[in-house]
Amino acid sequence: MNIFRSEKLFPMIKKQVYLETYGCQMNVADSEVVLSIMSDTGFGITQDAANADVIFVNTCSVRDNAEQRVRQRISTLKNYKRDNPGVLIGVLGCMAERLRTELIDKGNVVDLVVGPDEYRKLPELVESAFSGQRGIAVKLSRVENYDDIMPLRTEGINAWISVMRGCDKFCTFCVVPFTRGRERSRSLKSVVEEVKRLSERGFKEITLLGQNVNSYQDGEFDFADLIAHVSAVDRSVRVRFMTPHPQDMSDALIQTIAGNENICKNIHLPVQSGSNRILQLMNRTYSIEHYLGLVEKIRNAIPGVTLSTDIIAGFPTESEDDHQQTLDVIHNVGYDGAFMFKYSPRENTKSWEMGDDIPDEVKVQRLNEIIDLQQTISLRRNQAHIGTTLEILVERESAKSNDEWMGRSDTNKVTVFPKENARVGEIVKIKI
Ligand code: SAH
Ligand code: SF4
Ligand code: F3S
Repeated sequence: MNIFRSEKLFPMIKKQVYLETYGCQMNVADSEVVLSIMSDTGFGITQDAANADVIFVNTCSVRDNAEQRVRQRISTLKNYKRDNPGVLIGVLGCMAERLRTELIDKGNVVDLVVGPDEYRKLPELVESAFSGQRGIAVKLSRVENYDDIMPLRTEGINAWISVMRGCDKFCTFCVVPFTRGRERSRSLKSVVEEVKRLSERGFKEITLLGQNVNSYQDGEFDFADLIAHVSAVDRSVRVRFMTPHPQDMSDALIQTIAGNENICKNIHLPVQSGSNRILQLMNRTYSIEHYLGLVEKIRNAIPGVTLSTDIIAGFPTESEDDHQQTLDVIHNVGYDGAFMFKYSPRENTKSWEMGDDIPDEVKVQRLNEIIDLQQTISLRRNQAHIGTTLEILVERESAKSNDEWMGRSDTNKVTVFPKENARVGEIVKIKI
C-alpha cells in the first residue's frame, strides 16, 4: 500500500538509503525501525554508501568522544558531498536531538536533522529535502514507541526488541533523559507477538532493550511479567535484557530470571561509583549497601550468574578515597566484565553545573587503575571455567580464523572453537 505512495513521490527510480549507527543497542534497534519505515515507503536499502541517494547517520551524545567521532564522520561526508552534490545527508538520533539547528547551520553538509521520536516523518522530510528544503524534526513524544512497526532486521542469531523508550531517572551526568525524553513502554501483547514471529523466522536469541528496561510498565504488567511471557513463547530461544537499573531490580524479576531456563544468567547492573557521596551527587537513588545487598540476593537466587557493570571515573569532586571505594566495590563484587569511562561533562545536565574539577591526568590514572583491576578479575573469572563444559550458542565465524566459530554461553562468555560438528544457530556443548 505504501509503495504507491512513494511511487508518487519518486516515480520510476527507487532511491537508495544507506544508514550507519553509533551509540548503544537502542540506536541499533532504532536504525532497524528507520530502515523499516523507509523501505515500507518504497526506498531501497543499500549496504554501500557509494550507491546511496540518502546517507543517514544515527548518532550518540552520551560522552564527548562519542560526538567527536560523529563530527569527524560528518566532515568526511562534507568532502563526499562536494563530489556528489545530489546525495542527502541526514543526522538522526541523540545528537540530532541535543544539537538541533547547530548541525544544519554548519557548512551546508547536513540536509536533515531528525530526533529519535520523529522517525515516522523521515519519508516526507526526505522528499522535501530532495526538492531543496532542509528539514528538522526534533520533538520528543510522550507516547511514540513504534509499537506497530516491524523493524527491518538483518537475518542473524540475535534480534533486538525495544520494549520501552526514554528515561525518567535523571542521573546528573547523563544526557539520555534529554535526548530520549520520558519513559514509555510498548504493550506486552505486541512484544509477545513480535517474539512469536521472530522465533518462527529462526532467531535464536532475543534481547529486550530499554534505557531502563526494568522500569517497563504496561498497565498491571511490569518487566518481570513481560520477560516471563517472552521466555514462554519458545523455550529454545534465549532471552537477554539491557539495561536494568538497580533501583527497579525487584524480587519478582530475580525470581523470574532464576525460574526460567532460557532467560540468560547474566545481568548488567551499572553501579557507576562505589562511594555513597558520589552516588548521591549522581542521583543514582541507591546506596552502595543496597547495591551489594542486591548482588548477594541475585547470586543466592541464581547460581552461576555472571555480572557486569558500568563505572565512571573522575566525577566532579571525586576524592582519592571515593575512588578507592569504587575499587573496593569492583573487588568485592568480582564482576565478569565492565564498561569503564572517564567522566565527560555534558552541557545542560545537572553535573555540568558542578564543574569538571578532576584534572584529566587524575581521571586517566583512576580509570587505568579501574581497568587494570577489572582485567585481573575478568581473567580470574574466565580461568575458573577451564575444564568445565558450557552450552554455547554458535553465532558466527570467528573474526580471526575461517576454521573456527564464535559463540556465547548463556552467562555471556565468548568462546572460539573449531567448526567441526556445529552449525550457526545451534547450541553445542564445549569444553573450555
Ligand atoms: N541506562 C543505562 C546506561 C545509559 S548510558 C544505565 O542507567 O545504566 C551508558 C553508560 O554510559 C552509563 O551507565 C554511564 O556509565 C556512562 N555515561 C553516561 N553519561 C556519562 C558521562 N557524562 N560521562 C561518562 N560516562 C557516562
Ligand atoms: Fe542515563 Fe541514568 Fe537514565 Fe541510565 S538511568 S539512561 S545513566 S539518566
Ligand atoms: Fe548514546 Fe543516545 Fe544511546 S546518547 S548511549 S545513543 S540513548
